[in-house]
Amino acid sequence: MKTTISQVHKYVGEEVTIGAWLASKRSSGKIAFLQLRDGTGFIQGVMVKAEVEEDIFLKAKGLTQESSLYVTGVVREDERSPFGYELGVTNVEVIHEAIDYPITPKKHGPEFLMDNRHLWIRHKRQHAVMKVRNEIIRATYEFFNDNGFVKVDPPILTGASAEGTTELFHTKYFDEDAYLSQSGQLYMEAAAMALGKVFSFGPTFRAEKSKTRRHLIEFWMIEPEMAFVEHAESLEVQEQYVSYVVQSVLKNCELELKHLGRDVTKLEKIQAPFPRITYDEAIDLLHEKGFDDIEWGEDFGAPHETAIAESYDKPVFITHYPAKIKSFYMQPDPNRPEVALCADLIAPEGYGEIIGGSQRIHDLEMMEERYEAHGLTGEAYNWYLELRKYGSVPHSGFGLGLERTVAWITGVEHVRETIPFPRLLNRLYP
Ligand code: 4AD
Ligand code: MG
Repeated sequence: MKTTISQVHKYVGEEVTIGAWLASKRSSGKIAFLQLRDGTGFIQGVMVKAEVEEDIFLKAKGLTQESSLYVTGVVREDERSPFGYELGVTNVEVIHEAIDYPITPKKHGPEFLMDNRHLWIRHKRQHAVMKVRNEIIRATYEFFNDNGFVKVDPPILTGASAEGTTELFHTKYFDEDAYLSQSGQLYMEAAAMALGKVFSFGPTFRAEKSKTRRHLIEFWMIEPEMAFVEHAESLEVQEQYVSYVVQSVLKNCELELKHLGRDVTKLEKIQAPFPRITYDEAIDLLHEKGFDDIEWGEDFGAPHETAIAESYDKPVFITHYPAKIKSFYMQPDPNRPEVALCADLIAPEGYGEIIGGSQRIHDLEMMEERYEAHGLTGEAYNWYLELRKYGSVPHSGFGLGLERTVAWITGVEHVRETIPFPRLLNRLYP
């Protein structure tokens, strides 16, 4: 019977054949342990010399790392392995022999591994991270579909910036100037006026000269936008969404989290509601923690975010930032216009900001004023301003950065391991 590693539980005691690669191998004179992977999972194959023909055992002993094989064997339950099953191998057919696979079992540095990313993604830890990433995406679609949101795809080539002009990737659009999207938000606002509650999921680009464990040049964002929804209600959607995603990963990626050595007791606590503190309270908290030089009006850096997050075992919303350090479209607090109706959601354990969101200005005059104050000019935003002319309503939305969320949930240190082929400051290869 031909099957896959993910299906072997159906064939205990039976002989099966699996198309697989040899991840690694250990052998003695009498027994060979073959670590096999087929994309659906990992399983140990055991071949005992006394139980197979001599030439088959010799062939198994001589297999090279990452050779592709058809492996035949009897499925057995195995209490000792986290996977729960192993294969008593009776035959191996080599499809293709891999020679000198570069990523050997010895320790390699991150630059070497990144140069070999096209191969590194085959390895157990990377496989686990990609499976968790996929589960987060799956749970995202499920959550928003179940809650009445419509998926809308904003354009990637745009004529204007959505999040400030300093980090734009410029390109030509025939004779015009164009930019790669930094955020689909402005288009999602138009879509919310058509469909009520919408969400997007797509790549975004920031020509940011940041070389940190939280920054990618190309990253994927989930951007919901909701008509008739104000700031406080938006925070409720955010905490429910993030809780749903974490609980889905716990439920559906148990084995992957085990491979990653993730402390799941920390993730089990991620249930709505999340704590909320204002920017003012965050400043006080930072002063108490010895960050003496941060002053009201300054933006937080990674060390500040980490220090704030340390006080909580759930993600924490920091709300009401000074309007002048945030984007032009954010609704000022009517009781205190120098702060915006906005929030950043800071993940626990030092993973930093995973969501940025706000209520949007819906008054045309105020929007025009802010727009000019931010030095934005030209006709590229005419359509955006028109949303405030024809049936404008209060609305709110947010953007969740997928890779930072994957990093937090998997416990991986650097975002470069959370996307199949990361685009980093000095890396466009592979
Ligand atoms: O806070 P940001 O810049 O917000 C926006 O773009 C809004 N227009 C979203 C909206 O309201 N629809 O980015 C949102 C999130 C951040 O919280 C972070 O998780 C992620 O996107 N992010 C990055 N992730 C990886 N690398 C980068 N360079 C990132 N920049 C932002
Ligand atoms: Mg932000």
